[in-house]
Amino acid sequence: MIAIYDSGIGGASVLNAVRALAPTADIIYLADQARCPYGDRPVGELHQIALGCVAWLIRQGAAPVVVACNSASAVALTDMRIAHPAVPFVGMVPAVKPAVQQTRHGVVGVMATAATLQGRLFHEVKTQYAAGVTVVGQACHGLVEFVEAGDISSPALHAAVSAHLAPLHTAGADVIVLGCTHYPFLQSVIQHLAPDVTIIDPAPAVARQTLHITQTHGLSRPEQGQTWYYTTGSKDHLAWQIQALGLPFGAVAHVAVEELV
Ligand code: DGL
Repeated sequence: MIAIYDSGIGGASVLNAVRALAPTADIIYLADQARCPYGDRPVGELHQIALGCVAWLIRQGAAPVVVACNSASAVALTDMRIAHPAVPFVGMVPAVKPAVQQTRHGVVGVMATAATLQGRLFHEVKTQYAAGVTVVGQACHGLVEFVEAGDISSPALHAAVSAHLAPLHTAGADVIVLGCTHYPFLQSVIQHLAPDVTIIDPAPAVARQTLHITQTHGLSRPEQGQTWYYTTGSKDHLAWQIQALGLPFGAVAHVAVEELV
């Protein structure tokens, strides 16, 4: 059983990609919606939250664990691996490497949360892969809330996305990395507002990596292709989101924040 974890519904962009590659895998999806958004939380607090969520998923018997949240990966992926050495993890880091390969003008934009842009993983990929290329990060405050509310097309959303794209446009970015798993749900709006830009959604690559790790660790078993959703927030809202965003069908349950330790 594969675990996929995010602050909210954003990680479902990864869930969709995993489900497309692994129709018979059982998947448990945890959305920590009572504490969403994560992106502007202090690092220490987010670190503790993320470790607690992952520990709960592991207690449910899941492996590998996909941290389908750039913000949680940025602050806690290293310590998750240390705390659970027997469990394989797949984390998220903005897809700077493929973006650098695709830019023609030498400028790459990264849309992400503040936590992700301040994190060590982002600095490491820039140092490792972006020599000679300018990487411009844009902390997209507010976009996660639109996606959580199911608003992926209103005029207010267009205005918010447009405001976040402006600095990237001014900098001359011709490739934009979706550095938060909520943003693939906004891809058509982003592409509409920036028609000449190449957009990179890391979800398919993360899904391939997840399947690879599942196989190499001998974790692929005959399963039923079931999806179990858990939220720390409202079960009814999550059920509505699953329908509104066309996500894989599955049972929806509530889990108390106090259990995620
Ligand atoms: N989807 C998340 C990420 O990739 C979390 C965003 C948030 O909760 O602020 O960073």
